[in-house]
Amino acid sequence: MAWGCSLYLALAGGAVLALLVQVLRWLRADGDLTLLWAEWRGKKPENELRGKVVWVTGASSGIGEELAYQLSKIGALLAISARREDELERVKKKCLQISSLDEKDILVLRLDLTDRSSHEAATNSVLKHFGKIDVLVNNGGRSQRSLFVDTNLDVYSAIMELNYLGTISLTKHVLNHMIQRKKGRIVTVSSVMGIMGAPLASGYGASKHALQGFFNCLRTELTDYPNISIINICPGPVQSKIIQNVFTENLAKSIENSGDQSHKMPTDRCVRLILVSTANDLKEAWISDHPYLAVCYLWQYAPTWAWWLMNKMGKRRIQNFKSGVDADASYSRKKK
Ligand SMILES: NC(=O)c1ccc[n+]([C@@H]2O[C@H](COP(=O)([O-])OP(=O)(O)OC[C@H]3O[C@@H](n4cnc5c(N)ncnc54)[C@H](OP(=O)(O)O)[C@@H]3O)[C@@H](O)[C@H]2O)c1
Repeated sequence: MAWGCSLYLALAGGAVLALLVQVLRWLRADGDLTLLWAEWRGKKPENELRGKVVWVTGASSGIGEELAYQLSKIGALLAISARREDELERVKKKCLQISSLDEKDILVLRLDLTDRSSHEAATNSVLKHFGKIDVLVNNGGRSQRSLFVDTNLDVYSAIMELNYLGTISLTKHVLNHMIQRKKGRIVTVSSVMGIMGAPLASGYGASKHALQGFFNCLRTELTDYPNISIINICPGPVQSKIIQNVFTENLAKSIENSGDQSHKMPTDRCVRLILVSTANDLKEAWISDHPYLAVCYLWQYAPTWAWWLMNKMGKRRIQNFKSGVDADASYSRKKK
């Protein structure tokens, strides 16, 4: 009897999941259902973020660079940070060309997330320039392409130092200011790797899981401050320089061939959905094409089944990596 009941539940669960995946395919969904609803019916970033002071880390390339462009067009005041000041100046110049912002509306602020002793002074510089910080976007970070068995432990330490400790250190200083004002938004660019697992990124996945765990706990400590939002963003593969900049087996080695990235989600689409999530104070947003988006749902509702799929995808991922093409190349839709 119990066996029959379990079989029935398994079949019913399987049918519901298959239907959900199919509906998501029909919708050509590239975000979770709350996010897509917010994009359709929710608050517009243009209304919510115009005139706000937004500090974006990792703004010298990829997602952070595109965030600077879209935010400047909306009319947000920007502090843009990363280690490479010349690249930040390039981004600022383009922001000024494509928006109606003035020179003083964009602050270029060099910041090394791993230099935690500099974070208080950096926060004070932004406050001195603009008088407030409405939104912190914790975006700076690096990924990983190496198998655990081949990888030096120093790499794991460096990944946690940058992606996790660097992020929470900066957050601590900015949060003090937001608590004084009783308002603000802290947006953290985590990853689908913050909710699932995949080969070649055990250190990266650990750092993003750490961020998710940290911010989910922090949110519950801020219930006396309902106007401070903690927003976790989980993108799947997105076009950027992330593969060129990955950690490998040891700290001195960079990746030999980053491979074609054109099959990944376009950067501007990912950033638009990050801004929709921010404007609507979504607590967690999944931004990804299939099959990652479908795997997120599977992971959430039936993790053991997700392993069956993930192990198949994982095998291909390692084969792709070893043959020099992008690890995710074989199961992503080609982007125009
Ligand atoms: N692209 C994807 O597929 C994807 C998917 C999920 C999540 N994400 C997340 O999205 C975020 C942005 O990555 P991306 O894809 O845009 O990659 P990217 O093009 O490589 O950009 C990474 C940014 O992080 C900055 N950065 C690296 N080390 C830093 C440090 N020590 N201190 C301060 N800034 C540092 C880089 O600037 P400098 O080198 O000038 O310092 C750069 O601006 C990351 O957190 C990443 O984990 C990306």
